[in-house]
Amino acid sequence: MDKNTALEILKEHGQEHVLNGFDELSADLQKQLLRQVSEIDWETIALVGQEWEEDEGEISPLGATTIAEIEKRRDEFTKVGIDAIKEGKLGAVLLAGGMGTRLGLDKPKGELNVGVNRDLCIFNCLINNLMDVTSEAGAYIPLYIMTSEKNNDETIRFFEEKNYFGYPKEYVKFFVQEMAVAVDFDGKILLEEPGRLATSPNGNGGWFSSLHKAGLVEDIRKRGVEWLNIFAVDNVLQRIGDPAFFGATLLSGTDSGSKVVHKVDAYEKMGALCLKDNKPYIVEYYELSKEMAEAKDETGDYLYAYGVILNYIFKVSRLEEIMEERMPVHVVEKKIPYIDGDGNLIKPTEPNGYKFETLVVDMVAKMSGSVPYEVVREKEFAPIKNLHGVDSLDSARELLKANNVEL
Ligand code: UTP
Repeated sequence: MDKNTALEILKEHGQEHVLNGFDELSADLQKQLLRQVSEIDWETIALVGQEWEEDEGEISPLGATTIAEIEKRRDEFTKVGIDAIKEGKLGAVLLAGGMGTRLGLDKPKGELNVGVNRDLCIFNCLINNLMDVTSEAGAYIPLYIMTSEKNNDETIRFFEEKNYFGYPKEYVKFFVQEMAVAVDFDGKILLEEPGRLATSPNGNGGWFSSLHKAGLVEDIRKRGVEWLNIFAVDNVLQRIGDPAFFGATLLSGTDSGSKVVHKVDAYEKMGALCLKDNKPYIVEYYELSKEMAEAKDETGDYLYAYGVILNYIFKVSRLEEIMEERMPVHVVEKKIPYIDGDGNLIKPTEPNGYKFETLVVDMVAKMSGSVPYEVVREKEFAPIKNLHGVDSLDSARELLKANNVEL
């Protein structure tokens, strides 16, 4: 794209400020900026200021396959899962493209050291958890790691340096998620440096299309992988490739499974797995009315009691079917560093604009069903979102110790 074409397009959208100072940029920066302009998703930016279009539909509770029910069938579930893992039917996808802004690190979140007397980073915890399963199954699970443009090189360098924490390198593949531009509260595109639009990873919902763009769906097919276990980078206690969870999902005959925990109270800030028009749906805590949040069943338990922990199993063939469907884009207020009209870098302390994200929860809603698989939260849920307080490095360390992980 040349400068005149870019200017025309930008003018059409009231964004011509993007090219202020263009002529003073080096040839490389000019090229980079024009490429970025050519990749802007204008439909997404147009969402600023629009009312969020909520799908009409009736929300109803789903309950869960409870821990007690799972215990009764654990051996059966486990055998089915282990057999399928041995046959190479399961792959795993680590979502590690996030910015981890709440932790304020200058490196990928997975590099955070949770150790106290020794070095034990998040990535190492996750690989250890995965290897518990691969040792039990006697077979490796291919691991696909989603990074972003901002942390890809460093993540790969770190895995190389640490020798993949003992996992065979030929079973690990990295892919980069796509980026989206950020805008101020008036919808004007921000620049993070002269000649560079402010961009950020486009949310965790785009992982399958990014996997596809990277050519890795081909790799998945070639290996005979039929199911993918998706998981977040920050839950250091989670089971990955959990055979019983996989077995329960396979036996259910549906095309996905969601790990859930019982919420600590009606208002815990997590999405609850439920149904919308009889299809799986994750209702966010802020979408639940007081009546719904506090409603109880005949046993006295909350109707919307089970929260998702970002650990899902999806059937690959179903993911391929829905890949072309547009995912809902969420417009999220964030603090976005930018350069002002005089070229000064501003690092805001309060949100100053919007980022655009698609979310994996919206992918669950595209499945025909999802097994709500309850796990013991003290054993499988230790997310690290902050350094201190709730869901933090401190609370995760306590939980790891309680589970006999040497720190
Ligand atoms: P979070 O919603 O906690 O976001 O991600 P985050 O970026 O890690 O942290 P904050 O909000 O900036 O503090 C949940 C999971 O989804 C991944 C994260 O890496 C984490 O595993 N994720 C999130 C992506 O892979 N890409 C994204 O664009 C966003």
